[in-house]
Amino acid sequence: MYRNVAVIGAGTMGDGLALVHALGGATVSVTDVNRDTLDRAAGMIGAAFDVLAQSGEIEAGTPHPLERIRFVPSLEEAVAGADYIVEAVVENPEVKRSIFAELELLAPRAAVIASNTSNLDIFPLVPVGLLPRTLIVHWYAPPYIVDLVDIVASPLADPSLAESVRAFVGAMGKHPIVLKRFVPGYIANRLQAAWTREVLWMIDQGIADAADIDASIRHGLAGRLTLLGHVMKSDFGGLGLTQRLVANASYEPPPRVDHYNVLDRLVAEGSTGVLAGRGFFDYSGRPTAELLADRDRRLIALKRSARDIVGSFPDPADQ
Ligand SMILES: NC(=O)c1ccc[n+]([C@@H]2O[C@H](COP(=O)([O-])OP(=O)(O)OC[C@H]3O[C@@H](n4cnc5c(N)ncnc54)[C@H](O)[C@@H]3O)[C@@H](O)[C@H]2O)c1
Repeated sequence: MYRNVAVIGAGTMGDGLALVHALGGATVSVTDVNRDTLDRAAGMIGAAFDVLAQSGEIEAGTPHPLERIRFVPSLEEAVAGADYIVEAVVENPEVKRSIFAELELLAPRAAVIASNTSNLDIFPLVPVGLLPRTLIVHWYAPPYIVDLVDIVASPLADPSLAESVRAFVGAMGKHPIVLKRFVPGYIANRLQAAWTREVLWMIDQGIADAADIDASIRHGLAGRLTLLGHVMKSDFGGLGLTQRLVANASYEPPPRVDHYNVLDRLVAEGSTGVLAGRGFFDYSGRPTAELLADRDRRLIALKRSARDIVGSFPDPADQ
């Protein structure tokens, strides 16, 4: 198993990735080109750990993760002695290309390169010499709470690499899945992309407002999806119905467009989401840090209940 992890990039994802790897027992080095971001990282990691600890998600006696994490100003220092390197820099192909080129020179010869890219096919950006030990290992925010991790190995990697990384991530208590080949968005983000198109189209068309759309998801879809997933939900609904729905062809996906009026309006007025105090909804009544900690606590509570309730239900992976 990998013991010495380097995390490149300490932005939205990098802090959380350092935390989960440290909680998994690894020694972690974190670096970022932005000194302020790097200086902020220990505080972010400490706050996230406090939420986990207060929610009872940390076993008694677990060492504080910051004892295992060091923050270093250069890529060279971060990867020295690493056997597993997490690439979590901005989602910009040219930045990623230059990081991979540096890693070819600086990374220890056997170190695995694990990119957290959301949508980029990074393999054409990686020097050929690094490809046999490169994978995408894609986490979801916040990675210390969300369990899903997508793994896609480079076309030149031996299949045993994906399996050893699957075991590594699984041992952190996560739920890794290995895709057969790269597809932008993996599974979950492709499904979300289709939903996003539907949601914004319905709002723009005046069919429903944001609150009603979220109510439909929270009070209708979400519970069943948590228990059954989508495919098993079709089994419970009966596949004859699915077959008839497809044959009736009554569903037409929204047209493909490159902007939505509602998004343009919100962004133009500065309502860009929780960090701005306002997005589709108004969050201005509470400090952002408190809101995020509250979200984390409730997500953990939901996850725990779901674990108890879903646990005994048929899981194809167990059959
Ligand atoms: N934000 C999410 O919810 C999310 C979820 C899953 C995956 N991802 C992916 O994770 C990666 C990081 O995303 P993020 O949201 O944390 O981005 P971010 O912009 O918040 O952070 C990226 C960090 O990389 C640093 N950086 C840029 N160039 C660098 C270099 N040469 N060396 C070291 N550090 C460098 C930046 O200073 C910044 O702090 C992206 O590939 C993104 O697609 C993001």
